[in-house]
Amino acid sequence: MNISYRSEGSGEPIVFLHAFPLNRSMWEGQVAEFSATHRVITFDWPGFGESPLDEGEPGMDRFADCLVGLLDHLGLDRVHLCGLSMGGYAALAFYRRWPERIASLILCDTRATADTEEARKGRYETAALARREGAAPLVESMTPRLLGATSLAERPDLVGRVKEMILSSHPEGIARALIGMAERPDSTDLLAGIEIPTLIVAGNEDKLTPPEEMRTMADAIPGATFLIIDRAGHLPNLEQPSLFNQALREFLPSR
Ligand code: MLT
Repeated sequence: MNISYRSEGSGEPIVFLHAFPLNRSMWEGQVAEFSATHRVITFDWPGFGESPLDEGEPGMDRFADCLVGLLDHLGLDRVHLCGLSMGGYAALAFYRRWPERIASLILCDTRATADTEEARKGRYETAALARREGAAPLVESMTPRLLGATSLAERPDLVGRVKEMILSSHPEGIARALIGMAERPDSTDLLAGIEIPTLIVAGNEDKLTPPEEMRTMADAIPGATFLIIDRAGHLPNLEQPSLFNQALREFLPSR
């Protein structure tokens, strides 16, 4: 596997898993904040950002393989793991196989349930569209769903940045990620057994993974902390970075 990653700072390692169809640059604000106190690792899923396409069977297990391969490469036994949306699906797939390698878990704007039949069908159609026409059609369909109403109205800079990230994604990487998400198993069975410290973060304007659904997920994890970030949609780390960073700062050990 060939994965493009960035490691900044030193201290307890924290790994950030990016959303679909974006790339690791979505975590720049967290790299800047946490590299003062932690070793911060971000990387691109295959076919996104600077990581080349992968040829293995698409799926969240393949993404979990990428993560374990990277941790082994970096000599990291145990990390704090933060996954947003598709990054959260991958984090749960990783947790299923290697729970002992996670010191604490931060799940943002994601869900533990599998896709509905309708959602699955939509993903296959979008995968076919990306293969036919490239990433451009996703710019129009995804941007208004990824960003909250506040960002869409007030943050043209961020709207442009999200569009650029989507456009830079490889169409086949997009298709493979969509197929992988469509076929991901339900992970709700894992939630009651999660014993590590867990933080669940939701943007109050998130249309893709609404806060009520995130609250149900948090309720199923013993001792989990649930936090709603105001004036943020599906990407609270980009939309409200100060509030997001403060939430993580309060949750993570300070060393
Ligand atoms: C993401 O942000 O990673 C995606 O919207 C997740 C999804 O489509 O389920």
